Amino acid sequence: MTGQSSVKFLLRGLILIALLITAVVMQATEVSDAMLEEFASEAAERFTVQAGLATWITPQPNGRSCESCHGESLFATGSHYKTGELIEPMAPSVNPERLTERRKINKWFLRNCKWTYGRECTAQEKGDILLWLSQQ
Ligand code: HEC
Repeated sequence: MTGQSSVKFLLRGLILIALLITAVVMQATEVSDAMLEEFASEAAERFTVQAGLATWITPQPNGRSCESCHGESLFATGSHYKTGELIEPMAPSVNPERLTERRKINKWFLRNCKWTYGRECTAQEKGDILLWLSQQ
């Protein structure tokens, strides 16, 4: 390979990597944006990051909150309240797999809201949390 063609080869590789990264990032916002629109059609008020944060961290009378397992930082690994099983960071900026799968998001919203609040979350709560999470 000549010097010039290996530079071209390297450039092509870099462009490909950049495209792949953009694709992953776009996917996260596409899925969560679509879900936010759906929740919005069932919620009375506009979603805010402040409400999302408050809902996430506020402990219930039973002492439980979303932080019980996900930990105090969305950027660090959490550990399951009961089993001690490690939970990967929740922030999409450090864990690009987050908020990319509708089925997974719905499944865990259902389970975790029931465990934390003893009931399902409302569309308002889910929208606030999802908006806030998607920006981390
Ligand atoms: C009892 C422990 C526990 C609590 C409390 C908890 N979670 Fe989770 N959560 C998990 C586990 C386990 C997973 C799945 C493992 C993983 O994704 O790393 C998960 C995954 C999720 C996901 C999936 C995100 C994705 O796209 O990968 C969402 C959304 C979520 N939780 C929201 C919440 C919310 C909202 C609360 C508070 C109402 C909460 N969690 C409280 C254990 C918990």
